[in-house]
Amino acid sequence: MLVLTGISSLVTNDLTLERGKLGVVTNAALVVGDDNKIAFAGEAANLPREFKSNAIDINGRALIPGFVDSHTHLVFGGDRAEEFEARMAGKPYSAGGIRTTVAATRNSNDDVLVANARRLANEALHTGTTTLETKSGYGLSVVDETRSLQVANAITSETTFLGAHVVPAESQINDYVDLICGEMLENCAPHAKWIDVFCDRGAFEVDHARAILKAGANAGLGLRIHANQLQHGGGVQLGVELGVASCDHCTHLDSADISALADTKGKTVATLLPTAELCTRSKFPDARRLIDAGVTVALASDCNPGSSYTTSMPLAISLAVLNMNMTCDEAVWSATAGGAAALRRTDIGNLAVGSQGDFTILNSRSHIHLAYRPGVKLVDAVFVRGQLVAGSLR
Ligand code: NIG
Ligand code: FE
Repeated sequence: MLVLTGISSLVTNDLTLERGKLGVVTNAALVVGDDNKIAFAGEAANLPREFKSNAIDINGRALIPGFVDSHTHLVFGGDRAEEFEARMAGKPYSAGGIRTTVAATRNSNDDVLVANARRLANEALHTGTTTLETKSGYGLSVVDETRSLQVANAITSETTFLGAHVVPAESQINDYVDLICGEMLENCAPHAKWIDVFCDRGAFEVDHARAILKAGANAGLGLRIHANQLQHGGGVQLGVELGVASCDHCTHLDSADISALADTKGKTVATLLPTAELCTRSKFPDARRLIDAGVTVALASDCNPGSSYTTSMPLAISLAVLNMNMTCDEAVWSATAGGAAALRRTDIGNLAVGSQGDFTILNSRSHIHLAYRPGVKLVDAVFVRGQLVAGSLR
């Protein structure tokens, strides 16, 4: 049992409140039971007597649910520092860069891929990410996609088959779509929870994306889509048509896309990835328009070696507030409960009684500092299932 008191500000993300409301409790206490689940979260004055002995006072710091990063690509070999350098000198970002990482991934053995994915997952943990989703997508052959998913399973149970990232250099599009929907899916589905398609310029068009996602659904996988990142297209509308859990990127949206997402009443989340816009010098999407229309918004890192080589959810929160018109509360909600919604989970991303004991202690008195102090290390301690896994209580 773990009992914490002296919490200046406790973000509960109470699920009985409207989506986007943090349910902040001041002068709070938190208890994680021996089952690793939240046993009490509320005002310290109401802490039941049986929990009072052995309480640890955290001296007026904020405590928030662990970040749920619902979109990363951590299984890859090499990096693309030269591509980044060229981009910063004026060369535009394109989907084609993915093929550089495909070559490096195919040339890396499983141990190297596991070590790289673990390094990044650990980096994420130290900035407060307690759950992350990760994808294949840099293998693009039956063998390399299958082993990419086996590597992904070494770091998370939220694994996504993204054979449809781009068409590999050696293949023709129609043959490759047939391969994905046939032999590749058959081999990958046992190792994946989700299927995703990059539906955009230079990757897959809507009809191919529909065929791939439907094949994935038939194989029992949940659906997600990379949509409307590089240009306006039919990806978001396709996502809504198929009832995907999340349309990710959503950089180029028109009002019909926003209404379609809103009409799903939260079934399809819009996951925004502000560090991808930052690192590709693209325009930021306007989260305000989505939230005001009633769309459920998540924030994620998109960590990958091309468009967004960062694991930092605090940075995503800062950018969302400073450049995407989100309030501080909305951004923190979207990085925690929003990410959980994008993974269709209610047991994480909140600190309600019965939820998993995953949380972070900040070295500030409130969660506002996550946006207010961009780039500063604010995470003092990270707990997963009630156990301290990074930092210290001091
Ligand atoms: O989410 N958009 C597609 N996939 C990644 C980028 C992959 C890469 O450039 O390697 C993304 O931004
Ligand atoms: Fe991505």
